[in-house]
Amino acid sequence: MTALSQAVDALNRGELVILPTETVYGLAADARRPDAVARIYAAKGRPRFNPLIAHVADLEGAAAVARLDDRARTLAARFWPGPLTLVLPARETGVCDLARAGLESVAVRIPAHPVALALLAAFNGPLAAPSANRSGRPSPTRFADALAETGDQAAAALDGGDCAVGVESTVVSLLPGEPPRLLRPGGVVRSDLEALVGPLMDAGADARRAPGRLALHYAPDAPVRLNAPSAAEGEVLLGFGPDHPRALNLSPAGDLAEAAANLFTYLRLADARRPRAIVVAPIPCEGLGEAINDRLERAAGRIG
Ligand code: TXA
Ligand code: MG
Repeated sequence: MTALSQAVDALNRGELVILPTETVYGLAADARRPDAVARIYAAKGRPRFNPLIAHVADLEGAAAVARLDDRARTLAARFWPGPLTLVLPARETGVCDLARAGLESVAVRIPAHPVALALLAAFNGPLAAPSANRSGRPSPTRFADALAETGDQAAAALDGGDCAVGVESTVVSLLPGEPPRLLRPGGVVRSDLEALVGPLMDAGADARRAPGRLALHYAPDAPVRLNAPSAAEGEVLLGFGPDHPRALNLSPAGDLAEAAANLFTYLRLADARRPRAIVVAPIPCEGLGEAINDRLERAAGRIG
């Protein structure tokens, strides 16, 4: 039996599958089944008020779980398959209540990774899939890291190589009667979205709009300090750009896409040295730098 058909069988039994996407590895289950979705929350130690993303194969699959308005169709046409998640009004019959954490909205995306698309096509239904890390830890961007985080909880695991984007999808809320809101910066950069739907508002203080934005998230075991020029004795430096050593340099060329792809892997490699602290060089906040700095600030426990 192929790995793909084993994965489909596991999903049909209500079990969990490690799934590669272009952003990070996910831990997937049938989004329609509360018994299966409950296993995801348990495996990750994830609070049940934090809803999951429904991954679908195509626009038809998206329309089966959510209502898409013109703004949603415009963004979908440009960025799907890809690292963009849209929060939309949910259809009653789509994704189970538990996957949505009881909200009337649902988060949807079509991932771009060929293995994810092949599994979605073979399974023929929506897959709830959070990042495959245990709750609060850095997301896995390599197969081995995904196995180490939650592999013991999964009935099947698909190896799709290293994740090309390296940070999670951008989450944009498009609820009726509201301006578009950026709930989480990610693999699609703000300016490319704003060119199509106008300025993106912040999530705002309403926790129901952005239930997953906990402080101390993406955190390695070692404390993390940001915007550091250099490392002290016993600390490990994650560099950026030509002025820093090449070892553990997120991008010696100063390229933000390369830095995003390396981010979680380098945090893990740095952590494995058991340093007194992980210190990170300044990274510009433009383009993909917005998502990189968001993850780093949460790893450092600085924003909530
Ligand atoms: O790139 C990604 O998005 C990865 C891969 C596996 O697809 N998935 C991922 O899932 O990052 P997760 O569960 O780690 O993050 C999903 C985010 C959380 O911040 C959650 O709160 C938010 O999406 N979210 C999900 N449903 C929502 C909803 N109905 N309203 C507002 N936010 C929602
Ligand atoms: Mg996550």
